[in-house]
Amino acid sequence: MAAKAKVTFLPSGRTIEVASGTTLYKAAVEAGVELNSVCGGKGKCGKCRVQVHGNYELDHIHPLTPEELETGSFLACATRVRGEVRVFIPDTSTAGKGQILTTCKASCRRPDPPLRKINLTIPPPTLNDNLADLERLMRGLGPRGLGEPQMDLGLLQELATTVRKRDWRTTASFIRCGQSSRLVRLEPGDTTGLNYGLAIDIGTTTVVVQLLNLVSGKVVRTAAAYNRQISCGEDVISRIDYSVEGGLGTLRRLVLETINMLVDDVCIEVPAQQVTSACVAGNTIMIHLFLGLDPSNIKIEPYIPVANNPPPLPARVVGLKLHPEAPVMLIPGRSGYVGGDITADVIASGMHKRKELALLIDVGTNGEVVLGNDQWLVGCSCSAGPAFEGGEVRFGMRAAEGAIERASVSNNLWLNFCTIGGAKARGICGSGLIDLISGLFVKGALDKAGRFRGVLPQRIRPGTEGKEFVVAPGLETASGKPIVITESDIRNVIRTKAALYAAASVLVNSLGQKMEDVQKVHICGGFGNYLDMNKAISIGLLPDLPRKRFNFMGNGALAGAAQCLLSRRSAAEASQVAARMTYMELSVNAAFMSEFTSALFLPHTDEKLFPSVHPLVRSG
Ligand code: FES
Repeated sequence: MAAKAKVTFLPSGRTIEVASGTTLYKAAVEAGVELNSVCGGKGKCGKCRVQVHGNYELDHIHPLTPEELETGSFLACATRVRGEVRVFIPDTSTAGKGQILTTCKASCRRPDPPLRKINLTIPPPTLNDNLADLERLMRGLGPRGLGEPQMDLGLLQELATTVRKRDWRTTASFIRCGQSSRLVRLEPGDTTGLNYGLAIDIGTTTVVVQLLNLVSGKVVRTAAAYNRQISCGEDVISRIDYSVEGGLGTLRRLVLETINMLVDDVCIEVPAQQVTSACVAGNTIMIHLFLGLDPSNIKIEPYIPVANNPPPLPARVVGLKLHPEAPVMLIPGRSGYVGGDITADVIASGMHKRKELALLIDVGTNGEVVLGNDQWLVGCSCSAGPAFEGGEVRFGMRAAEGAIERASVSNNLWLNFCTIGGAKARGICGSGLIDLISGLFVKGALDKAGRFRGVLPQRIRPGTEGKEFVVAPGLETASGKPIVITESDIRNVIRTKAALYAAASVLVNSLGQKMEDVQKVHICGGFGNYLDMNKAISIGLLPDLPRKRFNFMGNGALAGAAQCLLSRRSAAEASQVAARMTYMELSVNAAFMSEFTSALFLPHTDEKLFPSVHPLVRSG
């Protein structure tokens, strides 16, 4: 039998026994202890630093300073437990208290949910009318466009008792399945006034659950949390890698734990057992992990998912703590990298029903772009890189307490910033990075390539990765050490914004349109909502169009899921949108590489594309 080792995580005090030789990172995932990771435990991101005391062994040379090594501060993914260890996880290695976008607008005036409740009073049997209970129920339903409804054996087993409980008054709940329908629940009496459903947005970083009253269309409660899968890697590719290495079950368990915890948070006045339908929006990889489907083929050419349009499944099969027969509908996706979350964004934006040409940009852990109108839709995805979520930036972090979220740079390069929650600065999140780079560029401290011009004692100084700008001196930070932004950080942010802009340009150009022809730009996604539009335009992340054409939608995926839960028509439109969207694969698109290279500057190599920016920029 393999020797066991015992790990105690502090400050939570959670303890777990694992096989000797397990990394502290794996032990933390197993124990459900929150630990930052961008690379999924590959020793590359440096975000999983912990302090270790006890019997451990280091895997390889840590990319840490001698001072950190002396104080026992190691990467959890490169430290193996050999006996008993105590591991302290500092605040800087956790996601902290997150700022998660839950605001969304689902537009549905008169709810007509896919889960249809029908109340009937059935004539009781007599010697002259001796139809069996099931046939009697079907006769009572009559021609309501339900076809030949299917049902589970469990419902049939309870049928006789249920219909007799309230003198043959009963409520039957149906959901459409293709051309036919499915009887999912039978209740005694009239329960048509009670119809609750959950809209669920499974993001790579965050999960949001919203409880809706499907009779009134009103939101009852909303709750959000970080996706517990974060400990297994920040982006979808590291999650696929983790699942390929035998972690599919763990990933599924972690996302179900996250959702079920949020179900407890929203189901207070309404017990979870009263929730009889759910609609889920997520990117294709998140949906695969949620259902326990192998996502490995999505990573390799030609990038094929197991399913883009999985059928509705009962909550008991999926593993959600709702009514066991509650159908869980999944918004269909278009491809491995344009998933149901983007279909949901489109539904919430309404761009698929309007004549005007619209561009939809979902800025999240991945970047997805859709262009189109009521006639056609074309979509693509670009691996924007994790810079806006805190990856590949030395002091980058998610939008959580202590993150610098707003910054303004004065003419003499003094900086004003504010942090989320007003806490001492712990790092810089995506919106803070854009503010900083925009400010430094406009005030002439950065050239078009994102390099610092000259050195200014106290502010711009030489560092280990080229020049760096001191954003916050040690006195103003939680760690007591200065927070800086380096030229390498800026290059990574420029690469991320260039990928998004290039994706939008390729779609627009390939359809013979010009950027100025775009009449509406819908911005969705957690990070998109916190962007300062003018600053995002000044660095070339968003196109330089009249500002009134921009529509910041909030959490479009959640809004789309809620809309499909409330309206049969929207649910049908979601299927049509996914089916009619043309998918453009950018990884083999030569025009994308060329657009990307042109966009690797502030704001762009072609100044004519950003006419409103250049008059603002001070030359150095
Ligand atoms: S370095 Fe350990 S998770 Fe990335």
